[in-house]
Amino acid sequence: MKNIVILISGGGSNMAAILRAAEREDWAGGLGVRVAAVLSNRADAGGLAIAQAHGVPTQVLDHKGFGTREAFDAELARRIDAHTPALVVLAGFMRILGADFVQRYAGRLLNIHPSLLPAFPGLHTHERALAAGCRFAGATVHQVTSELDIGPILAQAVVPILPGDTAQALAARVLTQEHLIYPRAVRGFFESATDQTVLTTSA
Ligand code: GAR
Repeated sequence: MKNIVILISGGGSNMAAILRAAEREDWAGGLGVRVAAVLSNRADAGGLAIAQAHGVPTQVLDHKGFGTREAFDAELARRIDAHTPALVVLAGFMRILGADFVQRYAGRLLNIHPSLLPAFPGLHTHERALAAGCRFAGATVHQVTSELDIGPILAQAVVPILPGDTAQALAARVLTQEHLIYPRAVRGFFESATDQTVLTTSA
């Protein structure tokens, strides 16, 4: 069985979408793939209870307990490696990971970012898309490299920006699409599928 380890920091709705797809599409039986563990850097991450409800073991590793980013990354890697992962999935994991960590999982580390990369890396993507007068926004699944929110793109979803949109409304519209493309991209990683693009024109 090939193991996926998912890292979260918050609500874990993308993680939940992956867990639902894995069950619905029988990834274990069909692909020999399972989500082996969910790790959070925050004890109050809502996604922890969701993972447990799906029968997935969870762990919390609070970054505040470490003096340096390198020390946190090293312990995180130790815990991840206990599951011998074929793939590590960042799903709303809001910590920047150091170069050593990224190098360790090179080619098997995915992230989802709530913008159409390479536009708007970093934080506050929806506010920035609105301020820039963009007509479209979206989300990107990409391989993680040592540069923040840069890396080979595996999937994107495009949504319209509507008159009167707020950042919250746009975030919700984008998040709905994230839940479609991330499970598809994770599945595609194991199937080596290439066409992962979702274009949506309805609100
Ligand atoms: C998602 O919108 C994801 O794209 C974003 O955080 C949210 C997590 O939601 N990730 C980033 O901003 C990473 N830079 P979730 O916890 O419900 O999946």
